[in-house]
Amino acid sequence: MRFFSVFDIVKNKANQLGYTETEMYASLKNHNVNKKDLLAYKENGVIPTDKVLNGILSYLGMTKVELELKLGRIPAGLEDVFLNHTKEIAKILEDKNSVKLNEFNSIQETKPYFYTDLGKLYNGDCLELFKQVPDDNVDTIFADPPFNLDKEYDEGVTDKNSFSGYLDWYYKWIDECIRVLKPGGSLFIYNIPKWNTYLSGYLNRKLNFRNWITVDMKFGLPIQNRLYPANYSLLYYVKGDKPKTFNVQRIPLQTCPHCGREIKDYGGYKNKMNPKGVTLSDVWSDIYPVRHSSSKNRKFNELSVKLLDRIITMSTNEGDVVLDPFGGSGTTFAVSEMLGRKWIGFELGNCEIIKERLENKDKDRKLLDKVYEEKNKLFPDKVKELRKKNGLWIDDDFRQDNEENSEGDKKKRKQ
Ligand SMILES: C[S@@+](CC[C@H](N)C(=O)[O-])C[C@H]1O[C@@H](n2cnc3c(N)ncnc32)[C@H](O)[C@@H]1O
Repeated sequence: MRFFSVFDIVKNKANQLGYTETEMYASLKNHNVNKKDLLAYKENGVIPTDKVLNGILSYLGMTKVELELKLGRIPAGLEDVFLNHTKEIAKILEDKNSVKLNEFNSIQETKPYFYTDLGKLYNGDCLELFKQVPDDNVDTIFADPPFNLDKEYDEGVTDKNSFSGYLDWYYKWIDECIRVLKPGGSLFIYNIPKWNTYLSGYLNRKLNFRNWITVDMKFGLPIQNRLYPANYSLLYYVKGDKPKTFNVQRIPLQTCPHCGREIKDYGGYKNKMNPKGVTLSDVWSDIYPVRHSSSKNRKFNELSVKLLDRIITMSTNEGDVVLDPFGGSGTTFAVSEMLGRKWIGFELGNCEIIKERLENKDKDRKLLDKVYEEKNKLFPDKVKELRKKNGLWIDDDFRQDNEENSEGDKKKRKQ
């Protein structure tokens, strides 16, 4: 865990010793550590073999325990030592924290780039902008950061960092998310599974895990000697024991688009099915990429209105505050506006696209209407028609049956 940052520790040591990079690698070689191995730890975070680890320790002049502490973890088997010295450790941590709090109080509020009755959009680096958000202030945070895949964004926005640089940056803004969330507030982080494995390890120490949501969607091209990547991961965590808001989401029963027949057989349980649909699981197969120019607001990544509607309605109520530190095309803010949620948005790149999108919401309204044609319905109207035409059951049949039965029951009780 976090072993990749050993590279920075090695580099610091070289700086202290006044080594050039070539001298650093030459010195490491004398300790049986070659450049290729060291770079592999930096890029992939893998744990070295004992032989290489001993070489690194001898170069650093450190013990294994000291290195583990520098890497930010309690050395295995020494947890009790920490538990028995909590007072001393707490004092060191609190002293460090008080410096941070003073820094926070001296920050001036940045002028928003744009605002509406419900929200404010700020143009700048999220790490800077977070500083002006008070603690325990936000109900839900949704974050869809760059994935470090060297994708093209606006000028001044980079999507290429080292392995350790990317994760270190990530942990910093995640800490800010945790600070500004209200108790019971929800944090959703969208990324490729590779990065979310690290983030979830980090988040497990700070928040309560709710779900690892698999968003079934192909991205990129098939890669030789690998499985074809076909899902994004959406991490869902809450601050504290349980979410302050969790509204159940329901989706239609899956049916064949040609004949309307259900894809899975629900046998004798049809009449027990909720007419509002099937409870949403943690695998989302009904979210599609925004590709068509008629629904796209910019040439870079953009998420669908449906995904944001689901996240926001699941975790907030009207009037609650939603924050998105990586605004992009402004999907989170457009959906928040339409659902009557307050919002706070940051974006380092071009904010004009977001402003224009929020000033004319017709396209987004139509997209949201389409989402609601299917939401909380066992069969959307079109599917109902198709099923009726093909003589298949629809939930209204059972509702009528149930109503007739309960009428019958009432009559029976009266007799
Ligand atoms: C994947 S996109 C977000 C797309 C967005 N969810 C949508 O639906 O349109 C990531 C965005 O984060 C922005 N960004 C990158 N680094 C940032 C930073 N440090 N602070 C704020 N925004 C940043 C990029 O400019 C980009 O627009």
